[in-house]
Amino acid sequence: MTAPVAIVTGSAKGIGLSIARELTGRGYRVVVSDINASDAEVAAKELDGAIAVPCDVRDEDQVKALVADTVAHHGRLDLMVPNAGIGIVSPILETDLATWRQVTSVNLDGVFLSLRWAAPAIIASGGGSIVNLASVSGTTGTPLIASYAAAKAAVINLTKTAAMELRPHGVRVNAVLPGFIGTDLVSDAAPEFERHLGLEAGAFGQVIEAKQGRFGAPDDVARAVAFLADAEQTWVTGTAFTLDGGLTSSLI
Ligand SMILES: NC(=O)c1ccc[n+]([C@@H]2O[C@H](COP(=O)([O-])OP(=O)(O)OC[C@H]3O[C@@H](n4cnc5c(N)ncnc54)[C@H](O)[C@@H]3O)[C@@H](O)[C@H]2O)c1
Repeated sequence: MTAPVAIVTGSAKGIGLSIARELTGRGYRVVVSDINASDAEVAAKELDGAIAVPCDVRDEDQVKALVADTVAHHGRLDLMVPNAGIGIVSPILETDLATWRQVTSVNLDGVFLSLRWAAPAIIASGGGSIVNLASVSGTTGTPLIASYAAAKAAVINLTKTAAMELRPHGVRVNAVLPGFIGTDLVSDAAPEFERHLGLEAGAFGQVIEAKQGRFGAPDDVARAVAFLADAEQTWVTGTAFTLDGGLTSSLI
């Protein structure tokens, strides 16, 4: 059987890189894609059969080219993982429209474009799946990151709608909703959370560890993505799979 082909956006580091490693270990030929072309090249060199294709997911022409290059190189596309994302800590009363759009253009428009242009290639390959990176912040109010949380909520809804529209074409669409994972996204934001919440340096991480048991690891997310992508999960579609160590399961 031909090895399946996967694109992971934003996979030069963090969760995306873990997903790329996990999928490679499971026999996929992975396209490591990122806005940071040089880091994507370095990451792809580490993975058997991987290639790097730079792409800014906010740019429709670049997303189309990413899919076209993948199909030109590998002849098929089985899995798209729209993972690229950014976060900006900003209270609503201090947030201007440009900041709002900066976050939603990557975290929502980027997911739409990735899904929109990957789906026809997956259909042409005989079916497959899409696994979106959402977040538990998309299911509950999340002070200080309104743009991020709103975009993730929209991604969860887009996941369900796309799952229904694409089911007749043999494409399953699911989302993972991680809690706080130990990546640059969180460590870069922690001092800003602490400043706005009046916490001492390092206290934000302690709050998260108390509520989640521990920080999630990128590999925790990668295994969940691989599970949802697995071709044996033929009836799993439209799901919003939470992995957060219990963060959203308790009031205290
Ligand atoms: N870290 C967490 O706690 C957490 C929790 C829930 C969901 N997520 C989601 O997981 C995904 C990955 O997050 P992470 O923690 O690994 O972040 P990260 O900051 O470690 O890595 C993000 C990657 O995305 C790339 N990127 C940024 N903008 C891009 C663009 N316009 N086009 C293409 N690539 C771009 C960056 O260059 C980087 O390589 C994001 O969608 C994030 O929202 C993260």
